[in-house]
This record gives sequence, structure tokens and C-alpha cells, in this order.
Amino acid sequence: MSIKKKIKRICKNYFSKTTSIKVPIYEGELLNGKTALITGGTSGIGYEIAKSFLKNGASVVLTGRNKDKINNAIQSLKKYVKDDNTVLGIEMDISNIKMIEDKFKKILELINDRNIDILVNNAGIVKGKKIGSGSKTSIDDYEVVLKTNLEGTYFLSQEVANYMKIKNIKGNILNILSSSSLRPAVNPYTVSKWGLRGLTIGMAKRFINDGIVVNGIAPGPTATPMLISNDKDEDLSLESSPVGRYILPEEIANLAVFMVSDMGRMIVGDIVYMTGGAGIVTVDDIKY
Ligand SMILES: NC(=O)c1ccc[n+]([C@@H]2O[C@H](COP(=O)([O-])OP(=O)(O)OC[C@H]3O[C@@H](n4cnc5c(N)ncnc54)[C@H](OP(=O)(O)O)[C@@H]3O)[C@@H](O)[C@H]2O)c1
Repeated sequence: MSIKKKIKRICKNYFSKTTSIKVPIYEGELLNGKTALITGGTSGIGYEIAKSFLKNGASVVLTGRNKDKINNAIQSLKKYVKDDNTVLGIEMDISNIKMIEDKFKKILELINDRNIDILVNNAGIVKGKKIGSGSKTSIDDYEVVLKTNLEGTYFLSQEVANYMKIKNIKGNILNILSSSSLRPAVNPYTVSKWGLRGLTIGMAKRFINDGIVVNGIAPGPTATPMLISNDKDEDLSLESSPVGRYILPEEIANLAVFMVSDMGRMIVGDIVYMTGGAGIVTVDDIKY
């Protein structure tokens, strides 16, 4: 099967996914008139945030590395677009730091006369081994994780914050961290998420004087392609978690809507942990 067909099949499985657990999904007008840029909006948490933002009156621009995945995501999100809002996408590899300035210019051309009011730094990957495990993390794996999860966020946020300042947009930047930023940083992923925790608070401090609110959401184990396979029948139970199951990306998305809305303007430099208790009320949910 060609790679193109494989990606289409994975996307189809993901977007047609139904879960046995039903969670309330917030839908309203909290984000009316806003436009959000979401990195890594083609699957998992980023995709569900895009959907929830659309359902709450925003327009969305999503990014990813793969054109087919972007097109599939846009196609399946179209039904949630309200009024004269829109959902757009652009290929943008966030780990390609040197391209970020130019890509952001392209995004501004793409949205035409809209403004970017919200940036969600969501794109993320896992690669590499735990240090001291006997297997080595390659330099390439280390670098791509740090570039994707941390450096890309730094440089894109720099672009977006400068733009918001010049345009006097009282916007929001929301970083997607991980509850692993509370655990010992034993692999490239956890190192990147610890970095993102510091960066979130640092950006919040620097940008608040310009009216830009920066916060983070730190999910615990969430049912997305990063952790569970699309091909298997989904089993959302998770013994190691105090709640006994994976978090659904829709639950993270509900929180994201609130945090970037005007109801969340007094949450500044905060990292809200949504973990089902994993790593918060337990310390033994991950074996080191
Ligand atoms: N799932 C969890 O349990 C969990 C827990 C805590 C935190 N998180 C965080 O949540 C975020 C989303 O993860 P997820 O679970 O939703 O995983 P996912 O389903 O694998 O989604 C990752 C997204 O990031 C995009 N992406 C990856 N590398 C990229 C790059 N270099 N440039 C642009 N986009 C890129 C992917 O798009 P393409 O493949 O199309 O490029 C995809 O849209 C990540 O930051 C992750 O660390 C996840």
C-alpha cells in the first residue's frame, strides 16, 4: 500500500473513531470573532482543540507536516464551522526553525483580513530512549524532539507575540505541555516538556504587559495516536491511572476553550494539569 493510501486510512480511522466513553463537550459563543493558529492540528489533541474552537465560534488555521493529513483534517472539520468563519491549513514543519518567520508571513497572507488572536503550541513528538536504560538516544532523535516540542514553540511564539504587539491584539498563547514535566526528565521528551514549563512562565511574564496571556495545559495520558493505536479496537482503560482510563482529547479541548476565552483572562502563567490524577496524586504511574 502506498504511503499516501496508508495516511488516508489512518486519518479515516481516526476521524471516524467513536468511543464508548461520552464526555460533555462545551459548545457556545466563547470564541466568537477570534482566529486561532494551532500547530499540529491534524490529529489527537490539536485536532480536538480545533474542533472545539470552531464549535465555539472561532476560525482556525491548523498546521502539520503532511499535506494529506492537513486536507483530511480540514475536510472533517468543515461541518463545525459557524457563520462566515473558516478552517484553513498550511504545511509547516515546526522543527524547521529557520522557516518559521517566512511561514508565519504565509499564514498571515492565508487568513487575509483576519487577525491571529490565539496561538496554540500543540505539535509534539516522542523519540529516544530513557537515559541509563542501556539503549542510546541518537543525537538526531534528541535534536528533532527538542526542535519540535520546545524550540519551535519559542520561535513561533516570538513571531506571534511581536505581531500581536504591533497590531495591539490582546491575544492568548496556550502551550500544550505534559504531566511528564513534573517527573524526572529521563528522555528527550521529558527534557523538552520541562523546558516548555519554564518557557510558558517566562513568556507569560514578558508578554502580559502587552496584554498577551500565556498559559499551559499539561495533559496526562490521553487517548491519541501518540499513545494508542488507531487500528486496534479502542480500550480506554488504564490501570496505572487513578481514574482508571485515558483522558479523551475532547476533555483537553474543553479546557483549552475556557483558557483562551475572555473568561480565562485572569489565568496568567499558569499550567493547568489535566491528568486523571496520574503523576499528581500518584508518583508510581510510570516505571523508571
Ligand atoms: N497523548 C498524550 O498522552 C499526551 C500527554 C501529554 C502531552 N501531550 C502533548 O499533546 C500534544 C499533541 O499530541 P497528541 O497526543 O495529540 O499526538 P498526535 O496525535 O501524534 O498529534 C501530534 C500532532 O503534532 C503534529 N506534528 C508532529 N511533529 C510536527 C512538526 N515537526 N511540525 C508540525 N506539526 C507536527 C502532528 O501532525 P503531522 O504528523 O501531520 O505533522 C500531529 O498533528 C503534544 O505536544 C504532546 O506532547 C500528549
